[in-house]
Amino acid sequence: MKVLVATEKPFSKVAVDGIKAVTDAAGYELVLLEKYTEKSQLLDAVKDVDAMIIRSDKVDAEVLDAAKQLKIVVRAGAGYDNIDLAAATAHNVVAMNTPGQNANSVAELVFGLLVFGVRNFFNGTSGTELKGKKLGILAFGNVGRNVARVAKGFDMEVAAYDAYCPAEAIEAAGVTAAGSQEELFETCDIVSLHIPATPETKQSINYDLVGKMKKGGILVNTARKEVIDEAGLIKLMEERTDLKYLTDIKPDADAEFAEKFAGRYFATPKKMGAQTAEANVNAGIAAANQIVDFLEKGITKFQVNK
Ligand code: 3PG
Repeated sequence: MKVLVATEKPFSKVAVDGIKAVTDAAGYELVLLEKYTEKSQLLDAVKDVDAMIIRSDKVDAEVLDAAKQLKIVVRAGAGYDNIDLAAATAHNVVAMNTPGQNANSVAELVFGLLVFGVRNFFNGTSGTELKGKKLGILAFGNVGRNVARVAKGFDMEVAAYDAYCPAEAIEAAGVTAAGSQEELFETCDIVSLHIPATPETKQSINYDLVGKMKKGGILVNTARKEVIDEAGLIKLMEERTDLKYLTDIKPDADAEFAEKFAGRYFATPKKMGAQTAEANVNAGIAAANQIVDFLEKGITKFQVNK
């Protein structure tokens, strides 16, 4: 069996070594396509592989057409909006993710962004502390839960809303359950986004919703750029000069945000949430194990295109 690791943004070396140890033990061949710049390189690399591990790399119908022997694609990470699931099913390819494996890494970055934000981007002026502020977590999945855990270490008040997670489960984690996403925005000083990009969530973080935030509100996004209504957020930040937007995913209108909102807007140059050796090892090795489990034993736990 041949396994391809196709990562435009590569894993740490220790993670690649860990993946190789798993594929070697299974008697599989491992091939790497890292830092590729053209889709044609990916189309070429997938031609004769049985399995592939990806990150935010796009696997669409064209890639699946080219991957004639492909049986399984594993997104080493949480969000799988980069895989065309219907096309994968049509091509008889199992698609999986590795939920939770990089969650702590993303959660820690939330606080990196927040400390940077409340200390005025380290410009030397007096900022504020996170202690005592109320943090709203939108979607209480693996990342949201890790964010809640770390927030308690900062002595923050923590609330969450998740359309798919009952209030009791949120309260059981020691977090206040907000009754709606509107209430979360209305009652929190900071809102951290952990929703996936789906047809329901796309552009759902809009003018009206963010406009409910209290004076001095901070929106932090380590989820997906697609969930933001960029035009609406720009309009709002023009009107509300007290609001800050910190993001790990550059918006399409990055240049406009940067120009209009200096000191209130920050985007990481490249998505950094899952860029730790630990997250790479966890997610990469989990992906490799899931491939071996599927090819050897038919195990489909974590399949997302059922
Ligand atoms: C995820 O969905 O797991 C994160 O957004 C990380 O994405 P990345 O592997 O492309 O850094």
